[in-house]
Amino acid sequence: MQATPLYASNCQITGTNDYKDIKDSDIVVIAAGFARKPGMSRTDLLDKNAVIIKEVCQGIKKYMPKGIAIVATNPLDTIAYLAYKMLGFPHNKVIGMAGMLDTSRFKAFIAQKLKISANDVETIVLGGHGKFMVPMPEHTQIKGKPITNYLNPKEIESLVKRTRNAGAEIVALLKTGSAYYAAAAAIVDMIEAILQDSKKIVPASAYLNGEYGYTDMFIGVPVRLGKLGVEEVIELELAKNEKDLLDVSARHVEKNKQLLGLS
Ligand code: LAC
Repeated sequence: MQATPLYASNCQITGTNDYKDIKDSDIVVIAAGFARKPGMSRTDLLDKNAVIIKEVCQGIKKYMPKGIAIVATNPLDTIAYLAYKMLGFPHNKVIGMAGMLDTSRFKAFIAQKLKISANDVETIVLGGHGKFMVPMPEHTQIKGKPITNYLNPKEIESLVKRTRNAGAEIVALLKTGSAYYAAAAAIVDMIEAILQDSKKIVPASAYLNGEYGYTDMFIGVPVRLGKLGVEEVIELELAKNEKDLLDVSARHVEKNKQLLGLS
C-alpha cells in the first residue's frame, strides 16, 4: 500500500484474516501454505498444504460461491486440482500460476547469457511445476530466429537446467522461504488479463479434458485468459521428444494426485 503512489496506483488494500472480507470478489488468489526449505522438493509439501487448502477453499466457497481462483500453492498442479475439486467452480475458473514464472525465468536466463533484452526472447515452459517441467528450446526464438542460431546444445541444456532449478536456487539463498517477487508479478499479469478480458495467451496450469492426451488433471499449458478465466487451452504442435518430456511430467503430477487420493 505504501508503494501504490510510486506505481501511480489508486488501489486500496485491506488486510484481513476474515474470509467474509472477500465476499463476492471477482478473483481470489490462493497463496496459503508452507514454502520449501533448502533441500525440500515441492512434493514434500503435498500433505501439509493439502490440509491448508481444504480449509481455505471452504472459507472461499462460503463468501465467494462464484468467481475465479488463481492458485499459487505447491505442489502447484496437484493443489490446483484439489482447489478445483473443493471449490466446485467450473474448471475454466480455477487456474494455477506457474508457467508464467518458469517462462519468465527461462527468458531472463537466456537474456542474461546472450546479453540481450528479455523482451526479445519468445519462449514457453510447459508441464507440471516441478523438477520435470518442460522448458521448450524448440519453441524458443530471439525476434523470430531460433535459439540454436545463438547457443549450442550444451549451453541450451545448462539454461534449461537452471530454469528447472530456479525455485530451489532462491530457496537456497533465502533459507527460510521461497520465491515470491516474480511469482507475484506473474499473478498480477494473469489478474490483469482476466479483469481486462485481454485474451492474452500465457502458460498456466489448467484443467485438461483430453487436450495433449491428458484427462481430468491440471498441468501447465498455454491458455487464453479472459473474463471467463481459461477461455481456451492452446494445443501446440510438439516434437516427439517434447511430448515425451511432457508425458514424464504428467505422470509425476498424476502420481501426486494419487497420493492425495484424488484419482
Ligand atoms: C518457485 C516456487 C515458489 O518456483 O515453486 O519459486
